[in-house]
Amino acid sequence: MNHIPRPNNLEAFWMPYSDNKYFKDTPRMLARAEGMHYYTPEDKPILDGTAGLWCSNAGHGRREIIEAIQKQAEILDFAPTFQLGHPIAFECAARLAEITPPGMDRVFFTNSGSESADTAIKIALAYQKARGQAQRVRLVGRERGYHGVGFGGMSVGGIGGNRKQFGAMLPYVDHLPHTHDLAANAFSRGTPAHGAELANQLENLVALHGDTIAAVMVEPIAGSTGVLVPPAGYLERLRELCTKHGILLIYDEVITGFGRIGKDFGTERLGVQADIMTMAKGLTNAAVPMGAVAVHNDIYDAIVNGVENGIELFHGYTYSGHPLAAAAAIASMNIHRNEDLPGRALAIEDYFADGAHSLRGLPNVIDIRNFGMIAGIELAPRPGKPTQRAMDIFRRCFDDGLLIRVTGDIIALSPPLIIEKNHVDRIFNTLGEAIRAEAA
Ligand SMILES: Cc1ncc(COP(=O)(O)O)c(C=O)c1O
Repeated sequence: MNHIPRPNNLEAFWMPYSDNKYFKDTPRMLARAEGMHYYTPEDKPILDGTAGLWCSNAGHGRREIIEAIQKQAEILDFAPTFQLGHPIAFECAARLAEITPPGMDRVFFTNSGSESADTAIKIALAYQKARGQAQRVRLVGRERGYHGVGFGGMSVGGIGGNRKQFGAMLPYVDHLPHTHDLAANAFSRGTPAHGAELANQLENLVALHGDTIAAVMVEPIAGSTGVLVPPAGYLERLRELCTKHGILLIYDEVITGFGRIGKDFGTERLGVQADIMTMAKGLTNAAVPMGAVAVHNDIYDAIVNGVENGIELFHGYTYSGHPLAAAAAIASMNIHRNEDLPGRALAIEDYFADGAHSLRGLPNVIDIRNFGMIAGIELAPRPGKPTQRAMDIFRRCFDDGLLIRVTGDIIALSPPLIIEKNHVDRIFNTLGEAIRAEAA
């Protein structure tokens, strides 16, 4: 093992979405990673129950990806994609278009899920204008939705805590109700039975706003809010209503893409089609930041052919299609295909679901829900101290060699798709013990 330098000053890095003061008093560091494990600076293994942040689907330290990045850095470190091109960005888009759903063969590159969300929103607005529906300026999201932290995604997103510090959001945004219903659906495996009718709320918004809605954006499975699986029939109904009312349907596949729920994309498994789809995370196995937005070919054609000459869409990032990210994405997509990561996920999802549901009956466990290689375990909060129980369980698991993710009092699990049964056992044994230990 090479020496891994330890930082001696933790102050300068303002950590994202973190309790900075707590962390800097009690740091828990991840210094290297390989396969299913992270390692602390002391080289203690930490089993990765979350694929980093829902993103390292092929496991860590994949040689193919490392070598692709290294090779590309030697060939071309950077080149702009504004009015110029470089080969690997085109190759990457073409490869991605091979796995996106039929008819969605046009790809816009970003650098993150947040940028993908904002890009999708802008494309939706531009499309409505290009097809002569410029009055369609409203956006509809869903309560508890997460679409990253840009103003577009944050406004369409529906997590109060993410918005409360930042004043007015985008105007002209409405929200559908969330689909979480513990009374009706607690401890459901796969799609919950009740709640499809919640999609009908879109009819009420159309009644209110007429033909001014440009797009609806939802996650096929809401992840960051604490794993909310759509009720049976809900997404189909939403699709039906969007089509009926000339509204674009944007699926945020940042978490559900790239095999996480047993198919290339969540929409494929869930049997629904989007008009616009956002991606990030698993696209490069998280080795280099990259996001993407795939759009239906008609949307691209309407915008691009709607302008006689000159720039058709006034949007883009310096790093859109960055060569190193493109190299990482192509190598990741090779692994995705060659190792059939979606198939691996499908093959082990029942075992994983059994492990998750084995926690039923433990103290304070009020719900367990799962779909594909995602599981959510909801806990009763400590009286007067919301979120603390889950945070204590998170820290205890880490100290016991397991990385989990918590949101409020919900534990979310989303391990790399190369997981084996013995890892599944270890995840749920360690987590079960931590839940018991934090029963008070
Ligand atoms: C559904 C969804 N959209 C967008 C994002 C934001 O992605 P990023 O953190 O890369 O900006 C996330 C991140 O978890 C996500 O889960």
